[in-house]
Amino acid sequence: MTTQPQQFEQGHGKPHQELIGGPYLRNAWYVAAWSDDIADGQIVARTIMDQPIALYRRADGSVAAIEDRCPHRFAPLSMGKVVGGGRIQCAYHGLEFDGSGACVRNPHGAKNIPSRARVKSWPVIEKHKAVWLWMGAAPADETKVPDFAVLDNVPEIYTTKRDSITIRANYQLIIDNLLDLSHTSYLHEGILGNADTVESEITVEQDGDDVVVGRHATNSAPPGMFAQFWPNHPPRVDKFTRMRWMAPSTLRLVTGVCKMGAAPESGTGYTAIHMLTPETARSTLYHFTAVRFGVMTTDDQLNRDLQEKIAKMRRFAFAEQDAPVIEAQQRVIEAAPTSLDPIILAVDVGPVRYKRILNKMLEAEAGRA
Ligand code: FES
Ligand SMILES: [Fe+2]
Repeated sequence: MTTQPQQFEQGHGKPHQELIGGPYLRNAWYVAAWSDDIADGQIVARTIMDQPIALYRRADGSVAAIEDRCPHRFAPLSMGKVVGGGRIQCAYHGLEFDGSGACVRNPHGAKNIPSRARVKSWPVIEKHKAVWLWMGAAPADETKVPDFAVLDNVPEIYTTKRDSITIRANYQLIIDNLLDLSHTSYLHEGILGNADTVESEITVEQDGDDVVVGRHATNSAPPGMFAQFWPNHPPRVDKFTRMRWMAPSTLRLVTGVCKMGAAPESGTGYTAIHMLTPETARSTLYHFTAVRFGVMTTDDQLNRDLQEKIAKMRRFAFAEQDAPVIEAQQRVIEAAPTSLDPIILAVDVGPVRYKRILNKMLEAEAGRA
């Protein structure tokens, strides 16, 4: 007898675009960098939604984001330097641009500034230790920055390195991965999942426009990392994982262990941050960090070791385990000669749900435009 994977919904052939990303949701905030990544006097180059962008700090400390392409001969402005406390001087012929994108100095000839000498600029906000850009034409709405208050006012020793990687795949394939908690038992076997967690039930809830995928494994041995979080832990505990997607592309995970039957908040673990920024349709900038909660370890050296260990483990999981599979998926989907029709398993409820919400938002945005 052969067993078939459980299928509860059969889709129809989907154009590649739908599987690996259609248009971007523009009227939203996207993380361009961690705040620490933009030092005074430095220009950081990014590509966000196919737009080359140069980021730098003005004299007052605020971050400016302007188009990274000089309108004269198209040299990247990020190759230039910050001058006069708030302007970028192009490396090639010295035109100077302010944070609004206006050319404010032409050192040549009669020094007139041609009317077309300007570049685009984007609204910037610094919040939760990150630099966010509003990419759409609608007025920037500060209330729409996703809630990462967990990063504010927390001792550095309980926060892991604010890290980032680039994944050569569409951002939606990465959201699919993060909202599918079942993959940890396979792709991250031994480090993020173990035999006790394979069978545990996955729940999916919608909270406003957020999607929350949860997994609660009761009566399991505490996985290695969490065993270290909890000196003299009981032999069997409950392990909880709750991943929240916030449109368009950030996620907040709360995971840890607690006494069997107790409320998760009474336990110990970490809140993990995932911020995805589409660079292009097939490339994503991924910022991540984690913050411990319910800290039970008092030894400074142990806390420093754990800080390092969580950071390394997560970077390894994303860069060495998730990224190769997701990048290969992108290549396989793109190479398919015909449209593909994915089968849907029970583990896909979270990904299906967020995609429905995101597609509605995309449609609403297109309607407005
Ligand atoms: S290319 Fe920038 S000033 Fe000429
Ligand atoms: Fe993963």
